[in-house]
Amino acid sequence: MSTYLPLAVPLYGPDFAADPGRVYARLRAFGPVAPVEVSPGVSGYLVTDRDAALAVLNDPDVWSKDPRVWESGLPADSPVKPMMGWRPNALFNDGAEHRRYRSVITDSFSRIEPHDLRRQVAETADGLIQDFAGTGEVDLVGQYARPLPLVLFNAMFGMPPEDGPRLVAAMGGLFESEPEHAIKANEDFGRYMDELIALKVRQRGEDLTSWFMDHPAGLAPEELAHQVILTMAAGQEPTTNLISNALSRMLSNPDYYSSLSNGARTARDAIDDVLRHEPPMANYSAHYPRRNMQIGSTWIAADSLVLISYHAANTTPDGYDGGERTDGGAHLAWSSGPHACPVKQPALLIAITAIERLTSHLGDLELAVPRESLQWRPGPFHRALAHLPARFGPITPQKTGVTPWSSSPSSSTPPAATSTESPVSSASAGRRPGSYSPAP
Ligand code: HEM
Repeated sequence: MSTYLPLAVPLYGPDFAADPGRVYARLRAFGPVAPVEVSPGVSGYLVTDRDAALAVLNDPDVWSKDPRVWESGLPADSPVKPMMGWRPNALFNDGAEHRRYRSVITDSFSRIEPHDLRRQVAETADGLIQDFAGTGEVDLVGQYARPLPLVLFNAMFGMPPEDGPRLVAAMGGLFESEPEHAIKANEDFGRYMDELIALKVRQRGEDLTSWFMDHPAGLAPEELAHQVILTMAAGQEPTTNLISNALSRMLSNPDYYSSLSNGARTARDAIDDVLRHEPPMANYSAHYPRRNMQIGSTWIAADSLVLISYHAANTTPDGYDGGERTDGGAHLAWSSGPHACPVKQPALLIAITAIERLTSHLGDLELAVPRESLQWRPGPFHRALAHLPARFGPITPQKTGVTPWSSSPSSSTPPAATSTESPVSSASAGRRPGSYSPAP
């Protein structure tokens, strides 16, 4: 049931991408919730107030995550279906079904030791860095922050290293504006998934897919595929944005830049700034009220689309000086309530390690353009840089082995490129550093 809202403010166009703060200020004039359009003709409500957001996120008896009634009013080819259409996974289900799906993901991630994950991220990072280290220039989104989570997931889910580039190309293609590219990417991704699951049916390993399969929840084959896809899809976009948004801050702010050697401000500080002021997922947590509901003075019909703006909620004026919150209170970048991100700690570790690895190998890294002129990708749900061009003094990758670097200015933890100690890292132990080519 897609409601038409005459005053709906579009969230999908270039205006929102260029200056979301101005759009949130306009939305706040409606009260704690405002009418918005997430795609032409697809409207809903956006909660911009922190307390109202927490009330929705933490009251599953009233607010459902199941979109089926709402989406029955959407055209079959609606562009929002991939992000919002129902599937048998943790994100789109409530209650016991949700807990069952979610336990598969949380229990499996809890089997990964942080030091193994850190080593795995370092190996992945080094392989990517090696591909551009000799050139002196890089797009840190396209060549680093975007492929990194996918090359990592390829290994964590138990696919051979040579399949990493396929996954990167297929996932990248899903967001192509040319429909034929997106269709081909979708087919490629389907083939990748079929092969992954067939491989693990034949031979289990110490990897997430095998742990999902053998989890006591007893997922049916279709459910298994959907939890794998959800984990990869939910992990990729926000982790990419967390890494690239944080890097853009670090490389444009002397407090961080000088700290690469002095230790004044750290990658973790940049990440905390991003989580509060520029959350990687800007607006999401689609909910649907089970009955007619009122938020502030706005009545919302049952089964309408209600989204949470983590970004606007984080920056809700605190009422003291009319400006942004000053109390240092918890932000909502990971959401809240039963559907809050279940992989927060691993995701933080991935982002911090990826940033530290890059800045320790390329100690003179700098932005190639001022931060103010960077382009942000349009879209209602994310805060995502289109590109992050940077330059540095080239370094020469060496042959596969102990360390891929001929000069490693401040690296204190050289990569273990052929480590076999970790069950997780063993999945990519044979990866040839430098073998990855970024998607075109
Ligand atoms: C390894 C990386 C990550 C993985 C595998 C992952 C996985 C997931 C999964 C499976 C869910 C659905 C949970 C549920 O419905 O019960 C989820 C939700 C969420 N995640 Fe993550 N995530 C990752 C990184 C991140 C990052 C970096 C952020 C942003 C800082 C983030 C923000 C969120 C938010 C806001 C939700 C709630 C979405 C909603 O309810 O609509 N995640 N994540």
